[in-house]
Amino acid sequence: MSFREFVAKTDYTITKPVSKNLEASGIIYSAGDKSIMFENLKESKNKVAANVFASKEKVAKYLGCNVSDLVPLMINALNYPTKPEVVNSTDHEELELDLEKLPILTHTDKDGGAYVSSGIIIVKDPIVGQNVCYHRGMVIGKNKIALRILERNTMELLKKNNGELQAAYCIGIGAETALAAAMAPKLGVNELEIANSIKPIQVVKAQTFDAIIPADCEIIMEGKLSLNERHKEGPFVDLTGTSDIIREEPVFTVEKIYARPNYIYHALLPGGFEHKILMGMPREPTVFDEVKKAGVDVLDVSVNPGGSSWFHVLIQINKKSEEDGKKAIDAAMIGHTSGKHFFVVDKDINIYDPLEVEWAMATRFQADKNFYVFSKQKGSSLDASADQITRETAKAGFDLTMRLEKVAKMTRTEFPKFDIKKYLWELIDMDLTKYETEMLEGKHGNAVQKSMNILVALGEIYGAKKLIDVTSVQVAGVSYDNLGDAGLDFLAEMAKDGRVKVLTTLNPAGMDLENYKNLGISEDFAVKQKLVIQAFEKMGILSTCTCTPYLIGNNPHYGQHIAWSESSAVAYSNSVIGAMTNREGGPSALASALTGKTPEYGMHLDINRNAQVKIKVEAKIEGTYLFGALGKVIGEKVKAKPTYITGIKEATVEELKSFSASIATYGGAAIFHMEGITPNKTPIPTEEVIVTQLEIDKAVESMNMDSEVDFISVGCPHASINEIAKLAELLKGKKVTKEFWITTARPTMKIAEASGYAKIITDAGAKFAADTCCVVAPIKGRFKCLATDSAKGCYYAYSKNQSKTKIMPIEKLVEEAVKDVKQWLIMLEEKFLQGRQKEKH
Ligand code: F3S
Repeated sequence: MSFREFVAKTDYTITKPVSKNLEASGIIYSAGDKSIMFENLKESKNKVAANVFASKEKVAKYLGCNVSDLVPLMINALNYPTKPEVVNSTDHEELELDLEKLPILTHTDKDGGAYVSSGIIIVKDPIVGQNVCYHRGMVIGKNKIALRILERNTMELLKKNNGELQAAYCIGIGAETALAAAMAPKLGVNELEIANSIKPIQVVKAQTFDAIIPADCEIIMEGKLSLNERHKEGPFVDLTGTSDIIREEPVFTVEKIYARPNYIYHALLPGGFEHKILMGMPREPTVFDEVKKAGVDVLDVSVNPGGSSWFHVLIQINKKSEEDGKKAIDAAMIGHTSGKHFFVVDKDINIYDPLEVEWAMATRFQADKNFYVFSKQKGSSLDASADQITRETAKAGFDLTMRLEKVAKMTRTEFPKFDIKKYLWELIDMDLTKYETEMLEGKHGNAVQKSMNILVALGEIYGAKKLIDVTSVQVAGVSYDNLGDAGLDFLAEMAKDGRVKVLTTLNPAGMDLENYKNLGISEDFAVKQKLVIQAFEKMGILSTCTCTPYLIGNNPHYGQHIAWSESSAVAYSNSVIGAMTNREGGPSALASALTGKTPEYGMHLDINRNAQVKIKVEAKIEGTYLFGALGKVIGEKVKAKPTYITGIKEATVEELKSFSASIATYGGAAIFHMEGITPNKTPIPTEEVIVTQLEIDKAVESMNMDSEVDFISVGCPHASINEIAKLAELLKGKKVTKEFWITTARPTMKIAEASGYAKIITDAGAKFAADTCCVVAPIKGRFKCLATDSAKGCYYAYSKNQSKTKIMPIEKLVEEAVKDVKQWLIMLEEKFLQGRQKEKH
């Protein structure tokens, strides 16, 4: 990313006409650390960007790293500079040689003139090499600038070359180059190579001398820098916010100005946040490095803004010996020679919080033991209290660390941590309506307030901007087997004054609410399960316990927002119906039921519903068990990513419900798209994954374990009336010899009873288990091996009930259920035939 690309999006854009004289600088100051683009400067047709790198966050964003990575990144670059790529040409165009025409700002009425404050000077000595450094420049004519040059590297090279060097003055550079130019490596190290190690850059040869300059720099001036021609420079309000004195400084005679098309001028406010960041931050790695070299376990360094990002250095250490504090101070003075006051704190003190540092001084510091004064030191010319000619100043070190023998006494006692937003709804970020705020305040009862607390907390965690209305809810967490007494108490409390606002049904309970004895459920369990159901019913929830609410009337429309819990139903409703729901937990779904609301995030936002991976199915998929196997394969391959599945020609409701259950169980997906089958629109992803026949066969094989089947179940997810009809047809006139459950919703079972299917099935010896299923019912240990057509059923039978599994189509399940009877009949027939033959003889 170049400077130009980075400033394409600034915090503020000012389109009103603004003058470069005093007005622009005043606006930049008022904006704090917010970046600004001036699009309409009165004196120039070009744009001016300011506060571009005015915070560590902005610098980190430019560099594509975290703030905590900045110091290590700079240390590494300082220690391992690398050569940048040289390009032959750039898009720069030559401009008229008239500095008045550039949008160079006059910052304050005390300044000596218009100042370039963001420019880096590049000079090159034929033997020592290239040097890059920030120098402020006061415009003193159409092609002349008085440059403030301290007695450091640029000055040394000038003196070495009889006071004259060809130079380039570059404005509008990236953060990597800005940081490198503000570092102080030893003479001979090319700062552009440090920049390249921070973030790779391209460079181009200067036009008038043998140096390299950043290729994407916005404006470049080339000319002669001379110690022999001097001019008054100043006053100038500098980093400290005080006016620097007037000095006689070298003159830079500009010979050529060239710039990128529609160049953007970088205005750096003297003493502003950006100036401080770019001055102070590059000293942090050098301090860090020196303290580390001194054998101290240094954790962090800040040259903080309170000390004008220059004078105050805060060093956080992991103290291991009493000498560490003093050692860190001595080393930091080497790492930042212009630093004046050095504060060393323990690892529990946040060096970016002045109150914490002050607290450490108040509680861990003894002035007669931990305070070090260094008189007559070489300081900074920026220090108004120092000798302005010799720069002599006094420095001080403050060891604010704990005495090791007193750590127990000096350690702060931590309070338990709570999120205050949960207690002060004024602080939440979401926009709430008046009604929602009233619900949160408890004006609509205790259960509603508790529900709002749950929903708002969820919304805050997931960055929701608001709550939205839901039209349907499905609550999980119904089985007493999962809830226990604590869950039952919570429901009883909510039922005191909580009443549902929208149609709400339940997920399967732990037993058939009417026929539990026939299924071997204990009376103790039944009593508790009934109390759970009573609490839900008291809140107005329909005690229809099913994972397929869409088959029994809780059936939302395309595009409606709902709050459902059961994972298979969530995947089905999002994908097959086109309704919109996250996978809710039991409490959050109940909260939605009692308020009619849910936070708008995740599956409620179109952007999150788009497919991310294309799945090309190259296998024959037919029947619920194979759709289950396909869901297993895809889920295991791409986890929860939304998929766009091709290669499936048709699918029944039952196959889609089996697939929804399986893809959600094995991968966690809340939505999928099936070409030509599901209704949602999605861009087709470029990433493609193929599912082969072999993978499907292996998935089936993995669920077919070596064991004798003693339990058969159909109805995971709950059986539809079509599935029940098919079972009736297959079981007609037969006898099952094994425990055989058909798990379904009670309304579906009622239809089966009315249509005669139920009688055929129960006459054959199979049982209906309405309201429940073989995963939530407390049947662990009762059966050794479950045979089912459901991949999800296999997963939970094995993982929750530790039962072996076999997966097969419904026809085979029925064959498995009656096969011993068949053999018995064959045996009978054989005996009968043998008897007849004997009679004949
Ligand atoms: Fe439904 Fe139980 Fe299967 S809740 S999806 S039948 S595990």
